[in-house]
Amino acid sequence: MVVGRRVVARHSAWLARTRRLSSRASSVLSSVDIPTADQELSGVYDGSWKGSGDVLKSICPTTGEVLARVKSATPEELRDALAKSRDAYRYFRTVPAPRRGEILRQIRYALSNKRDELGALVSLEMGKIRTEGIGEVQEFVDICDYGVGLSRMMNGRVVSSERPGHSIVEVPNPLGVVAVLSAFNFPVAVYGWNLALSLAAGNATLWKPSPSTPLCSIAVTKIVSRVLEENGIPGAVASLVIGGKDVGEAVVEDKGIDMVSFTGSEAVGRAVGKVVQSRFGKVLLELGGNNAAVIMPDADMSLAVPAVFFGAVGTAGQRCTSTRRLYLHRDIASEFLAKLEKLYRSVRVGDPLAKETLLGPLHTQNAISIYHDAVGYLRDAGAEIIAGGERYDAPPLDQGNFVKPTIALPKSADPKDRIWRTETFAPVLCAAVFEDVEQAIEWNNAVPQGLSSTLFTRDLRTVGKWIGPEGSDAGIVNVNVGTSGAEIGAAFGGNKSTGWGRESGGDAWKQYVRWSACTINFSDKAPLAQGVDFSA
Ligand code: UN1
Repeated sequence: MVVGRRVVARHSAWLARTRRLSSRASSVLSSVDIPTADQELSGVYDGSWKGSGDVLKSICPTTGEVLARVKSATPEELRDALAKSRDAYRYFRTVPAPRRGEILRQIRYALSNKRDELGALVSLEMGKIRTEGIGEVQEFVDICDYGVGLSRMMNGRVVSSERPGHSIVEVPNPLGVVAVLSAFNFPVAVYGWNLALSLAAGNATLWKPSPSTPLCSIAVTKIVSRVLEENGIPGAVASLVIGGKDVGEAVVEDKGIDMVSFTGSEAVGRAVGKVVQSRFGKVLLELGGNNAAVIMPDADMSLAVPAVFFGAVGTAGQRCTSTRRLYLHRDIASEFLAKLEKLYRSVRVGDPLAKETLLGPLHTQNAISIYHDAVGYLRDAGAEIIAGGERYDAPPLDQGNFVKPTIALPKSADPKDRIWRTETFAPVLCAAVFEDVEQAIEWNNAVPQGLSSTLFTRDLRTVGKWIGPEGSDAGIVNVNVGTSGAEIGAAFGGNKSTGWGRESGGDAWKQYVRWSACTINFSDKAPLAQGVDFSA
């Protein structure tokens, strides 16, 4: 009997340790090479896989199940990874840029072969719907294409010298080690934007992903590292260090990191910016968005209403570019709200992996509290809640972090009020009514953040005002297109407390190099600049 009891006890201890994954989760994980047996996964890669620090859990926001346990980096492993990244950079900077582009081309194909599977993983682990997950991986594929092109076009300049027999050239050289600290909401694409430019520029990149989306980073790193290894390139050209706050802080403080690209909250970004600045490193910040859509009386409703719906409800309001403020011209306000409310009421909520779903869960339970706080504040301030305002609490949605997308009409449109000035990372849309475009632009610009904005109109004169010096002060200034869903081709980023960073397309690559201004004298004389006479 005693023996039997011992066996039972051992069996239940085994059960407690054993991860019994749903078939929904196992099929997604196995398709991207993530083990489904109960084991702790290595969360560090610097040429080989390791990790013996604290164990982090990846939790499915839809079902609450533990998807995997991941071993983070110890301080020593992080130090090692940093040293290996530096060595990898020293090697990689000597590889000709077009050859680096060829590596990127192979990464692009490896990613696109797994695009749908990786997209499903994003959906499983982060919670966004499957097509948005796939779209996010597509952004990585696209920026790789862009990086391949760049690898033959990262040109410097020849500048006219004021001195005879002299030439000035501006040379873009590889910068060093670039650390990418990415957020949970785009667990693949944001890394992709940085990696593609950094790799084309000849740097080593070290990725510290959000601790709540470790599996996306492991799956991506497996794909990227395989390509590097096949080409005889040190794996530490694209290192991964999974970890919590301590790992993030150590990365940011490290003098061996030449540039820190950080995506996340304004509060953390402010601290990151100060630390990197105090050691004279380069910093690229992508912080809060508090994005407004302005709807003029002549707007095409068939464009504007779905754009605001996607902007505010898509990704369950968890894009930096999500629409959070809606400014409606007095003449169309009630018609617009009636149409929008109808869409809100019909939104298909559920498992983000299911084809028909449009609204998935929030990423964490903590996000539910943030949602409740925002709605509570609105209610206390006398706002009219015209849709949503609570969580979905009937089974099976009560297992996950599902909240109802909310439209609120605050009593006051005063941009100084907390509700207009604060980014709530949840599907809460606040609406106000304006009289003329000048007032709408003033409200649009009156908040601390400046990421995305949009105007719906058919009047060219209003467009001119909106995109010009007296117009929107955000980094993204759209017309008849929603605030979210930017393509990779333009530089992506925002102004003011969004941090002024630019990633992805446009001239963003210029930040990933160190510029050398070289004056070359090819004459037999040595005249000084500005005609200075210094003859002894
Ligand atoms: C983000 O939310 O941090 O424009 C990135 C968009 C996406 C990227 C968003 N292409 O919404």
